[in-house]
Amino acid sequence: MSTTTALFSPTHLGAIEVSNRIAMAPLTRSRAGMDGVQTPLAVEYYRQRASAGLLIAEATNISRQGRGYAYTPGIYTDAQVSAWKAVTDAVHAAGGKIVMQLWHVGRMSHASLQEGGAAPVAPSALQAGGSVFTEQGFQPPSMPRALATDEIPGLIEDYRQAALRARAAGFDGVEVHAANGYLLEQFLRDSTNQRTDRYGGSIENRARLTLEVVEAVAGVWGADRVGLRLSPLSTAIGDTPLDSTPMQTHGYLAGRLSAMGLAYLHVVEGQMHSDNGADAFDIRALRAAFAGAYIANNSYDRQRALDATAQGRADMVAFGRAFIGNPDLVERLQHNRPLFDAPVAGYFGGGAEGYTQFTREQAA
Ligand SMILES: Cc1cc2nc3c(=O)[nH]c(=O)nc-3n(C[C@H](O)[C@H](O)[C@H](O)COP(=O)(O)O)c2cc1C
Repeated sequence: MSTTTALFSPTHLGAIEVSNRIAMAPLTRSRAGMDGVQTPLAVEYYRQRASAGLLIAEATNISRQGRGYAYTPGIYTDAQVSAWKAVTDAVHAAGGKIVMQLWHVGRMSHASLQEGGAAPVAPSALQAGGSVFTEQGFQPPSMPRALATDEIPGLIEDYRQAALRARAAGFDGVEVHAANGYLLEQFLRDSTNQRTDRYGGSIENRARLTLEVVEAVAGVWGADRVGLRLSPLSTAIGDTPLDSTPMQTHGYLAGRLSAMGLAYLHVVEGQMHSDNGADAFDIRALRAAFAGAYIANNSYDRQRALDATAQGRADMVAFGRAFIGNPDLVERLQHNRPLFDAPVAGYFGGGAEGYTQFTREQAA
């Protein structure tokens, strides 16, 4: 296959057929209501980008407890389901495919975003760094409390309910968010997990929650419509220190997910928003441990995406920031047209400007 065609040819992720190898990475845009209900603007935003082979919708809170940022969407009320249904209908009408990213932030939250001002939950009572977006602006995350072992079944049930609601909302599948310093990654890394029960300690124990969540979600969807996102080398969110043996931990998880027949593994291949180049980690070995499809992400450009897909190093490449300012990214990459760099100021929050519309000078 010639280097220019692989990226633009169809493939499948488990049971999900896609028309090209370009995915839109999940992008939190913080434009939902405080009730987690998407607005008609989100319908337009996703519809505009439906020529991507796969849209991975922004991280979506599986429960009120799972929320860490104001104005992010949820999937735990009927109103949230109806609003998302309008999004998936529009994407499907435009010929696209869309999966929902299931999100629980764990310790990356603030008490003002929690029911009754409660402390956020985490594997262990360890303070996160960084900041979270609240109605009062950016604030440091609140000190979390450690989840009790007997709370874990309820947490897994929240994921299962979210998976059911995502199906009712018309998605093509779901992506379990086990990346970027959020709850499941907090369990995976020994830097953030100091538990002494069966969810802490050994690699098997630290991976247990993620695997139980995947099992519950796959019970709703079938494993061939479930993907999972990992970021083994990123500390970007919450200043989350790396695991002491990232290759072994993530390699073990990839092998177990492979045996479960998961549709795809989606990997942020380095420190988020830096160039890739992970010396201490063999991305190819991680990919080799997983039999399903592989979506590569992080600072890819056109040439690297062409190469990765032509060489079979990745089945798809997910672009994040490039999709913000270029709803027609697939067409632009196909014809090697210049890309527009959307202003960072419009990334989070606000209205149509910087979301579904850009001023003429900017978009030129
Ligand atoms: C505005 C913004 C919002 C993001 N929101 C999410 C998210 O909801 N879930 C997630 O897993 N990653 C999120 N990310 C990370 C992106 O999915 C992606 O991994 C990152 O931008 C690197 O890809 P890129 O170099 O193509 O932009 C976000 C990134 C940006 C810039």
